[in-house]
Amino acid sequence: MATNTKRLLLSDLVSSDKIDQVPSHYIRRISQRPNLQNVYHDHTIPLIDLHDLYTPNRSHVVHQIGRACRDYGFFQVKNHGVPESTIANMMNIAREFFKLPEEERLKTYSDDPTKTTRLSTSFNIRTEKVANWRDFLRLHCHPLQDYIHEWPTNPESFRDHVAEYCRSARGLALVLIEAISESLGLERDYINRQLGNHGQHMALNYYPPCPQPDLTYGLPGHTDLNLITILLQDEVPGLQVLRNGHWVAVDPVPNTFIINIGDQIQVLSNDRYKSVLHRAVVNCEKERISIPTFYCPSRDAVIGPASELVTEDEPAVYRQFTYGEYYDKFWNRGLATENCLDMFTVTSSSS
Ligand code: OGA
Ligand code: NI
Repeated sequence: MATNTKRLLLSDLVSSDKIDQVPSHYIRRISQRPNLQNVYHDHTIPLIDLHDLYTPNRSHVVHQIGRACRDYGFFQVKNHGVPESTIANMMNIAREFFKLPEEERLKTYSDDPTKTTRLSTSFNIRTEKVANWRDFLRLHCHPLQDYIHEWPTNPESFRDHVAEYCRSARGLALVLIEAISESLGLERDYINRQLGNHGQHMALNYYPPCPQPDLTYGLPGHTDLNLITILLQDEVPGLQVLRNGHWVAVDPVPNTFIINIGDQIQVLSNDRYKSVLHRAVVNCEKERISIPTFYCPSRDAVIGPASELVTEDEPAVYRQFTYGEYYDKFWNRGLATENCLDMFTVTSSSS
């Protein structure tokens, strides 16, 4: 029986009202539904072993990374240097957080996307017309000392475990950024130097079981606005990547991360590497947790195509902008289907 209490978070709606149908504001138009029966399950993205990055075989790994960035925009990594215990603690603390009583979780609730620590639902409920089947806790995590005091203190070890994970994930991001620079023929520290003071955000995504997964999304198709994303997912499938016009499922492999190129690498590489559409779908039976780390420039960093990659034959595709400008445009758009990058091309009217 439906109650009249308005729930801010989807997880509380699902657990309290025992709903057996998706509420109408989550339902996509027929032409925009996930079409789950058409998803490919027998293709996958490359799995790259990072072990050799610091051996004489480095150039081989750099080459594999470059090819994956160019051809897929996505790859998985193993031997990535993040300890298994750090990963397990992160996943467990996320699960505990989403199991806290509603009033405890709501202490961090906000629908203001400019807040640096907040629990919210869907994507941006201030601008979107159709909601998504997701709750999320979003944290800024670099420089850690600027933000950690805002983070939840319940569960008790939340800050310790999440901080340890953030430091480790940042180490991996820096290694990958160097390899990506080299794979583009740039100096190893080129991209690192473009990022100002650097930034790092993360989301703890919680996707409750959904009675009608064909009608809605955890997250609809989107590209990530940041530089690179390091995704940790639990054992429940849900991530899908667009490849050659088909949605391909990327099913979980224990102790690997999924890496994807974000819009800022597409800009820096002057379109050699593409920020690829991906989405999260939901299922009837199991809740799913995913934890993306979004590595990014600081707001004041000026981003544009690397001059070494701009030639007479390949002129600059994008104008220069600050990451802050890009970030604000992205969030105000409401995860619309149009690509945010299109607003920053040389040929689009600058405003
Ligand atoms: C994201 C994202 C995918 C997932 O948060 O940007 O793409 O599997 N998440 O949750
Ligand atoms: Ni994403």
